[in-house]
Amino acid sequence: MHKPIVVVGSINFDYLLDVTALPKPNETLIGHGLRTAIGGKGLNQAAACASFGRPVEMVGAVGSDAIGQQAMGHLTRKGVGAAQVRTLDDERTGMAHILVAEDGQNMIVVTPGANSRVSPADIDAASGLITGAAAVVVQLEIPLPAVRRALEIARRHGVLTVVNPAPADSSVLDLLPLADVVTPNELELMALTDIADLSDASLTQGLGALIKAGARQAVVTLGSAGCAALIDAELVRIPAFPVKAVDATGAGDTFNGALVDRLVAGTDLIEALRYASAAAAISVTRASADAAPSPEEVEAFLTRHPV
Ligand code: ATP
Ligand code: RIB
Repeated sequence: MHKPIVVVGSINFDYLLDVTALPKPNETLIGHGLRTAIGGKGLNQAAACASFGRPVEMVGAVGSDAIGQQAMGHLTRKGVGAAQVRTLDDERTGMAHILVAEDGQNMIVVTPGANSRVSPADIDAASGLITGAAAVVVQLEIPLPAVRRALEIARRHGVLTVVNPAPADSSVLDLLPLADVVTPNELELMALTDIADLSDASLTQGLGALIKAGARQAVVTLGSAGCAALIDAELVRIPAFPVKAVDATGAGDTFNGALVDRLVAGTDLIEALRYASAAAAISVTRASADAAPSPEEVEAFLTRHPV
């Protein structure tokens, strides 16, 4: 039996509103079509890892509302273990308000609810899972002290750690000595480092700053421009696969889930990034944040899109 991937993170109820184009400040728009889904970067990444056939355990919290029950059912249907997801009596489940434009781009505002109550004590309660894990994956939609505790336990036991610093919080820089891989998107990289654009020189500088802060590997996702990593101090860009994007919400989550799956499998970083890019490309063609493909779909896609 494989060791599980443990995802420590958020669980949200997503309200997705389709708009023609994303609004400018002070603009009022008429949306067309409201969809709802179970989401949260933590849950989406856990579901993505599970879709690649790995055992996955989630550590997090939901409220005692109907949505929390729905989220627990969703985790079970996705094959994600939820024994360490706490239901809080006096709290609402996290919510995300998401605008999705016709070009697939999005804007997200999260109301954390129960996610804001995930504590180091919850992580300690899950330490048995973490010490026996193949990898621990974290994002920043739960409080930083809980994230730190999960990374500390993982590092002490030699467990692979993947830090997706989303949403960006500069305090995460202090946690990077505990990160095997850090995976910001372009805005997060700009927020965490001093870079002002996405030129090769700036990406090299930004990713270099994350490595200087302590991360062993640094990868940036660049939406439809693909992703990039610093490998032996050289910038390696992996272009995105050409697809018609319907909804890029959660593309980063699918990317992270696929990346950790490949890293756990022992694949080298460039190959793992290509696989993660293919998985994410498939996901953006689907209208859901929780749209990770199966390994068979990714293999078939890669066969149709050779290097
Ligand atoms: P989210 O926060 O919605 O999960 P993100 O901003 O973290 O997303 P992105 O950088 O937008 O993540 O996308 C992650 C990866 O998904 C990219 O590196 C790329 O490989 C793939 N991707 C995103 N958008 C597209 C697109 N339009 N076409 C093809 N691939 C895409
Ligand atoms: O990455 C997409 C996710 O971000 C959504 O599911 C939403 O809940 C927010 O956490």
